[in-house]
Amino acid sequence: MSTPFATIPDDGTPLRVIVVGAGGMGRAWLRTVQESPLVELMGIVDLDLAAAADAAASLGRPDLPVGVGTAQLASDVGAQAVINVTVPAAHHPVTTEALAAGLPVLGEKPVASTVAQGLSLAAASELHGQLFMVSQSRRYNKHLFSAKHLSSTLGAVGIVSAEFFKAPHFGGFRDAMDHPLLLDMAIHQFDMARFLLDADPVSVLCEEYNPSWSWYRGDAGSTAIFEMTGGGRFVFTGSWCSPGQETSWNASWRISGEHGTVLWDGDNAPVSSVPPPSDAVNPEDPGQEIAGSLRDFVAAVRTGSTPMGRVHQNIMSLAMVEAAILSASTGVRVSVDSLLEDSYQQAILAERDPAVLEVLKSWTSVRTALAGESVAL
Ligand SMILES: NC(=O)c1ccc[n+]([C@@H]2O[C@H](COP(=O)([O-])OP(=O)(O)OC[C@H]3O[C@@H](n4cnc5c(N)ncnc54)[C@H](O)[C@@H]3O)[C@@H](O)[C@H]2O)c1
Repeated sequence: MSTPFATIPDDGTPLRVIVVGAGGMGRAWLRTVQESPLVELMGIVDLDLAAAADAAASLGRPDLPVGVGTAQLASDVGAQAVINVTVPAAHHPVTTEALAAGLPVLGEKPVASTVAQGLSLAAASELHGQLFMVSQSRRYNKHLFSAKHLSSTLGAVGIVSAEFFKAPHFGGFRDAMDHPLLLDMAIHQFDMARFLLDADPVSVLCEEYNPSWSWYRGDAGSTAIFEMTGGGRFVFTGSWCSPGQETSWNASWRISGEHGTVLWDGDNAPVSSVPPPSDAVNPEDPGQEIAGSLRDFVAAVRTGSTPMGRVHQNIMSLAMVEAAILSASTGVRVSVDSLLEDSYQQAILAERDPAVLEVLKSWTSVRTALAGESVAL
């Protein structure tokens, strides 16, 4: 069976990449790319050319080519792949442009501004036969892998809970945005829960609220109960204005199964009430955060292996966010299938590229398409 995306076999030289988006996170990516022997940084794209030039200078590479157009700069410098670290609203146009230019893309979370746009990107990735992977950096954590590994000795796992309590004063857009906790942060924990349970969301009942002392305009607190495939439940409770005894940025986790419990504080090694078998092998080390996802991406492009965040696989994490927000605003349990169907209809109505539209229309169902079954092999 061939892979659903083109590969670039290893010829002994690093994969040539450009980074698009030279903001706060773009600079973190630039440092990671610069330090990695797997990739070679060929240029930086930003609508703000001065920001791109400044980022190049701060890397000690003031002569690095910079530009405002992704396909143009990639062609000019002979890049083989694109790392998209733009604002969420630019994820769809920038990634679409790169895929159409025949370039695989590693993009920051969220996959796009909406699930509908994410579906368009999955179809574009199929159309052009190029990998689009979403970097969900908190998955790349050896303790998260250990927690999952330990939970495999618990028998049936039925309840996973995550508590996230922090009190950052960011200033800027988060203080003014709608749904700051669910949109900007909870996608990480939702995605980690899918990983821990090996399950996808079925439905969600969610409340959002803003404590009286909150310094955020939008609701900074939320509790969501997800039913997952297989019948398990994932319960998320979080607040972004809870000073004192704060949890880690990864949240504090309890994985409850038939024979015991795994606890993980998000920072240190997890503990289990069930001792692992004496011959247990340690799980693989996935690498640390964006360096781990970069390694996963390069391996996929080189060998055709499936990375954790392939667009088809990642969209369900954004679907959890949208379903939770819809439930909080309507006060009723939201079915993820109905959200996916609505998003699919929106994607069809909004699609401007006739060839991408044709791919979307060929899907028999969104879940089937996202499971990869409609991908031409
Ligand atoms: N994984 C994490 O923990 C983590 C942390 C922070 C941010 N992020 C994600 O990283 C992404 C970027 O966040 P940020 O904080 O760096 O944002 P930012 O606003 O600091 O920077 C974004 C940059 O993108 C540029 N840009 C916007 N539209 C563009 C376009 N069409 N073409 C080229 N450049 C364009 C802007 O000019 C800006 O320089 C977001 O998707 C965000 O969710 C992830």
